[in-house]
Amino acid sequence: MAADLRFDGRAVLVTGAGGGLGRAYALAFAERGASVVVALTPLVVNDLGVDFKGSGKSSSAADKVVNEIRAKGGKAVPNYDSVEDGEKLVKTALEAFGRIDVVINNAGILRDRSFVRISDEDWDMIHRIHLRGSFLVTRAAWNHMKNQKFGRIIMTSSAAGIYGNFGQANYSAAKLGLLGLSNTVAIEGRKYNIHCNTIAPTAGSRLTQTVMPQDLVDAFKPEYVAPLVLWLCHESCAENGSLFEVGAGWIGKLRWERSLGAIVRGKNQPMTPEAVRDKWEKVCDFDNASKPRSIQESITVLNDALSQIESQGNVSMNSTSSGSVVLSSGDMASIVGRELATNVYKYTHLEPILYALGVGMSSKDPDHLKFLFEGSEDFCCLPSFGVIPAQTSMFDGVPSLPGLNIDITKMLHGEQYLELYKPLPTSGQLTSVSTIADILDKGSGAVLLIDVNTYCGKDLVCYNQFSLFFIGAGGFGGKRTSEKAKVTVNPPERPPDAVISDVTTADQAALYRLSGDWNFLHIDPSFAALGGFQKPILHGLCTFGFAARNVLKQFANNDVNRFKAIKVRFAKPVFPGQTLQTEMWKEGNRIHFQTKVKETGEAAISGAYVDIVPALDKPSAQEPLKTAGLQSDLVFEEIGHRVREIGNELVKKVNAVFQWDITKDGKKAVQWTIDLKNGSGAVYQGPARSSADTTFTISDEDFMDVVQQKTNPQKAFFSGKLKVKGNIMLSQKLEMILKDYAKL
Ligand code: NAI
Repeated sequence: MAADLRFDGRAVLVTGAGGGLGRAYALAFAERGASVVVALTPLVVNDLGVDFKGSGKSSSAADKVVNEIRAKGGKAVPNYDSVEDGEKLVKTALEAFGRIDVVINNAGILRDRSFVRISDEDWDMIHRIHLRGSFLVTRAAWNHMKNQKFGRIIMTSSAAGIYGNFGQANYSAAKLGLLGLSNTVAIEGRKYNIHCNTIAPTAGSRLTQTVMPQDLVDAFKPEYVAPLVLWLCHESCAENGSLFEVGAGWIGKLRWERSLGAIVRGKNQPMTPEAVRDKWEKVCDFDNASKPRSIQESITVLNDALSQIESQGNVSMNSTSSGSVVLSSGDMASIVGRELATNVYKYTHLEPILYALGVGMSSKDPDHLKFLFEGSEDFCCLPSFGVIPAQTSMFDGVPSLPGLNIDITKMLHGEQYLELYKPLPTSGQLTSVSTIADILDKGSGAVLLIDVNTYCGKDLVCYNQFSLFFIGAGGFGGKRTSEKAKVTVNPPERPPDAVISDVTTADQAALYRLSGDWNFLHIDPSFAALGGFQKPILHGLCTFGFAARNVLKQFANNDVNRFKAIKVRFAKPVFPGQTLQTEMWKEGNRIHFQTKVKETGEAAISGAYVDIVPALDKPSAQEPLKTAGLQSDLVFEEIGHRVREIGNELVKKVNAVFQWDITKDGKKAVQWTIDLKNGSGAVYQGPARSSADTTFTISDEDFMDVVQQKTNPQKAFFSGKLKVKGNIMLSQKLEMILKDYAKL
């Protein structure tokens, strides 16, 4: 059983302890020492002995309680000063006991009047006793507590302050002021182990006698409040900066709740009372409300709101509103060809997988596994992932475009072109360089063509052209077309050769945005509403990803090497949860397509095509060499047989996963994994499905020399023929196994 809460050796100051709650606290603290080491539980019993309105003065109240404590064997001294002489109260404690550990700010009076009848004196008096008095007493004790690295402080608030109460405006104000005082004292005291908490008690006392019926006064005993105060003041209690309502043997903790709120202004737009009115329901809606606990948490929401407002109109296929001129009549010639940004995009296998999920791939479809499972033998990146590193570069560049006065909130992502020169690496580092290819004047708006070249090292991996339409920015006398623009092409006038439907999920945009398009338009209903949408819309590039993978599957057998280029025009928004219907026409190596929203029949993507490479035309530079003819294959297969027979035993002995990267003519030829750790072991082609403990890289020929014992692994290692990554010690165990199998 946990020990009783004791206050031996602690000096406690209770203000206003001549009666009511203060008296109950004083007696309870004394009792908690008296029952064990009586002499060591000292108390300063302060009471001015005023009437409940603060008039008169008598020492008898404090004396009575002190005598009561002493009669029980406790140690207590009286103090008759007003809390407005805070120093004197603390001095009494120091002189009598040499220390001050606990301050209970309890003294109080009432000057109840209806609001308009409150005199200056009524107002000031209440504030002086409750708020200023608590401040002065606490301040007097502060340095002593700080030096001894221990202090417990209680502020006494009231339900009248928390909720308001007729006739108590002065008292309510002071009482809630105490909560503010406590909140900050708690923060400042934390590092010195000084805790400050606030209680709002309900108890029968002479203060409540005037407002409560006698039976309630009797029932709500001060003794039902005191235990909370004792607990909060105990050295073992970590509570700090909290507020409690307490009475009748019940205790509840209070905290702030804040609605999610609503943004009521747009970027570069004035904030209007009408916007506030229109958002009122949302402002006051406590569904999913947050519970901020600190000023930092409170301010975060404002920072978020600011960045939401600032990021309005990030690149997406959306328009927020039609609007004003966005292009200055700057020198177009100097802008075209200008480099916007260079951006490095680092990624692991996680990003391509997340992207694949974002565009609707699922492990339910065996075809999709190679895009979703990094351990898959032919794990690869969806070609349309090529927009992801590029868009980051563009996001960075466009808003800060010097020489152009653009309004990003008036921006539509109009079209997209992507061309691949190599399959995208499944991880690594890509550098994207964006430039302004051209600026077109379409009358109703201006089109900014942005070219982004993405490199892996020095190799150009892919090229994107973003076509951004700025509403209302046309009419500057520029050209209408550009030879640099990748143009859309209408599909043939016949029924499509193939149609694939995909139901997007309600969380499609929430998932897709994790790939890097963080525009709130796709997630935040209030933000979407600002843009004039009934709810958040799907990213245009998400629909693009759905369509691209459908074409890849339908016409290129999911072979990423065969995906050459894709062009789309974003025609209409899609809402998460709607069904996408991709209609495809094959015309030679070009697959025309359009993507419709099934529910509305409207085209979300139009004039689109994918260029594919004929099946045998293009042997992949990246594809590993075929493994036929490798001698090591036979050895691994043989080891596989044995592992099937005695795998259990080997797993116990070896408990490790070995991955082999076999090379042929200096190029990576095949990977094998000998798993002698999981289940009853396994040998399979491809990288380790769980992580490998040791990875060996060796040529086919050298591997055979090792297993045939023409050379030993150590020699191979030191001569650089065998490279080892991971736990090198484990290779000793493997050596045994290889030798065994070599004998076969
Ligand atoms: P109470 O009137 O029995 O006790 C207050 C004590 O403070 C009195 O003994 C009085 O002489 C003393 N006092 C007044 N002015 C003083 C001063 N300047 N310096 C030193 N002592 C002074 O009232 P009760 O009910 O025990 O109240 C204690 C505290 O609890 C007060 O702060 C009150 O506002 C608060 N409270 C009480 C509630 C209740 O239901 N009893 C409800 C909400 C708050």
